[in-house]
Amino acid sequence: MRFDLAFVGFGTVGRGLAELLIEKRSLLERVYGIEWRVVAISDIKLGSVVDEKGIDLSEALRLADSGRNLESLPSQKKGLSPIDVIKESPSNTIIEVTWTNIIDGEPGYTHMKTALSLGKNVATTNKGPIALYYRDLMDLARSKGAHLRFKGTVLSGTPAFNLFEGPLSGCSVISLKGILNGTTNFILTEMEKGDDYTTALKEAQRLGYAEADPTMDVEGMDAAAKLAILTNVLLGASIKPGDVKRKGITSITPQDIQDAKRKGERIKLIGRAEKEGDKILAEVSPTSLPLSDPLANVMGVTNAITFKTDCLGDVTVIGPGAGRRATGYALLSDLISIASTGLTFKKD
Ligand code: HSE
Repeated sequence: MRFDLAFVGFGTVGRGLAELLIEKRSLLERVYGIEWRVVAISDIKLGSVVDEKGIDLSEALRLADSGRNLESLPSQKKGLSPIDVIKESPSNTIIEVTWTNIIDGEPGYTHMKTALSLGKNVATTNKGPIALYYRDLMDLARSKGAHLRFKGTVLSGTPAFNLFEGPLSGCSVISLKGILNGTTNFILTEMEKGDDYTTALKEAQRLGYAEADPTMDVEGMDAAAKLAILTNVLLGASIKPGDVKRKGITSITPQDIQDAKRKGERIKLIGRAEKEGDKILAEVSPTSLPLSDPLANVMGVTNAITFKTDCLGDVTVIGPGAGRRATGYALLSDLISIASTGLTFKKD
């Protein structure tokens, strides 16, 4: 398969994918029969370029990493809006990596709808549109014969959804619980070591883990958005992030952490979801877990999910939930899925 890619957004995550595409060009061709070229890049800060002959991605990376405008690149069209880039570029696949907005999903939602309506595939790490409109977007993708992939919305490149399309296909999820936000797990880890909450949050921001507005992390909204996606995709629900019962970590004190430790427990911000009859219970809250629970031993910015499955019992995945390369890899994996299976996830 040949991907004619348009990047909508060319920040950390988009550039993470760009680096991997360049690094793995020969592997992609040899093993997966994938060829690619980038026909458009659009970024709110860096400008936009369209060229059907293909854009020099290494040069685009060099410019973007030094904060310079992309419109100095040789190209046929410059300065188009993201929507016009999606419509007018000779692309078959849109990499939608604009900023996350879990209030109304914009501008990513409109970008995705526009692309899918034109029958173009979408690979995204943008949590807002998927948390709010997964079913609508998936229906649109299917009606147009396009693919919508969003692996990196939860646990970045660490497998979650795609486990149930590949290694665990045929296995059903009964319930799930996980550490879905790296920033809060980092803060709780640092507080256990003796740091105060504010210092730990500042450090998480300095390391680039936190959302632009860290309230999203510490009040559990980011975890609630990810939990809504997991619940809708793997438990067949139709919930919005606002339906998730939610409590963040702002009221957790060093004393709470030490009290838990004395009992042989550790406090984690846990997102959990299960079906009870027709009802879906979905909740994010600080939870004191016994150290025998694998999630209790997941420290720092690492994420993890325990899936309770019908065939295997508990299966836990642990791995990175953020970062340029790890999240860029999620998009690469999405592209390989589109090329190799040609299937969109059909769980209802
Ligand atoms: N702010 C998020 C986190 C980034 O800390 O997990 C990855 O979604």
